[in-house]
Amino acid sequence: MDDLIKDINEKYNALGHDPNVFLKGLLLSKPLNYWDYIQLDTLMSLQKPKTDFKDEYIFIVYHQITELLLALVSHELKQVIEATAIDQGMIAEKVGRINRYMQVMDSSFGVMFRGMNWDDYNTFRIALAPASGFQAVSFRLIELMCTDLINLVKPDLRASHTTFNATEMLKDVYWQDAGMDRKTGKKSLMLRQFEEKYLAQIVAQAETMQGKNLQCIVQNITDLTDELKHELRKMDYIFNVQWPLSHLRTAEHYLISKGQKINSTGMSDWQKYLHPNYQRRVFFPALWNADELNDWGNFEIV
Ligand code: HEM
Repeated sequence: MDDLIKDINEKYNALGHDPNVFLKGLLLSKPLNYWDYIQLDTLMSLQKPKTDFKDEYIFIVYHQITELLLALVSHELKQVIEATAIDQGMIAEKVGRINRYMQVMDSSFGVMFRGMNWDDYNTFRIALAPASGFQAVSFRLIELMCTDLINLVKPDLRASHTTFNATEMLKDVYWQDAGMDRKTGKKSLMLRQFEEKYLAQIVAQAETMQGKNLQCIVQNITDLTDELKHELRKMDYIFNVQWPLSHLRTAEHYLISKGQKINSTGMSDWQKYLHPNYQRRVFFPALWNADELNDWGNFEIV
């Protein structure tokens, strides 16, 4: 106890703060409890259904769970990107964590796939248009922490981008296809809303991450360990193939009725757009062979 008091004295004297004031504050403050620490009341106040359909609550909570898992992904990526030295063991550990979060996202998707009443979902979702999961910016910011923007530009449009210009390149990014008619340049309300809110932030993220993202870090490592290579390929696959396919199967479950495609809330050509083989989003192209890249989205890895 004496040692502890001595340490506290030293710490607060070094900070230029009276240790007695700190100790008195400690005496006065209430002991911590679970609900305040976790911010439980705030958390439980964040679900605001737009309709009276009971399953809308599931839809909201599950999207919020996804956002929190993506916050964990982003938290790990930041640490890799901000590390001052390259440590392959540390990167493999962090990417392994990311893969566990993504596996949770993927394996829990049954909550959406089979977990809502089909008729109720197809009724309450009408009240949500033009909002769409497409507008979840966390996915876009994470992509830019993982790879250079050029890898997110549609493959057939890459050659025209010989120098890095985030604003110009984002006009040709794969996700424009969810809401832009490339012949007329006309954009859907879903896409316009999204860009008005987030485009400046996405441009800033692309500029900050250029040359610093995970793909750049990894491509500078000459003797990539098998462990790190395995975790990176797994990450590329879960993020860009496995989860997108689980998501697409769910969209098909709800949005195909009697063999007919139903309009989505965001009004995209979703069945074509959402397939990984159409998007060709690959974070670490150097870790895949030509056949795998061609067949992207159509093969499984173990
Ligand atoms: C019943 C459940 C779901 C259905 C039927 C569904 C359907 C769709 C559709 C049709 C699109 C294409 C854009 C549009 O036209 O609206 C889309 C995009 C998207 N959704 Fe969902 N979605 C569901 C759940 C989720 C969940 C839980 C998330 C997690 C946040 C999510 C995230 C996304 C993302 C990120 C995109 C854009 C994908 C990309 O650009 O590659 N969706 N969704």
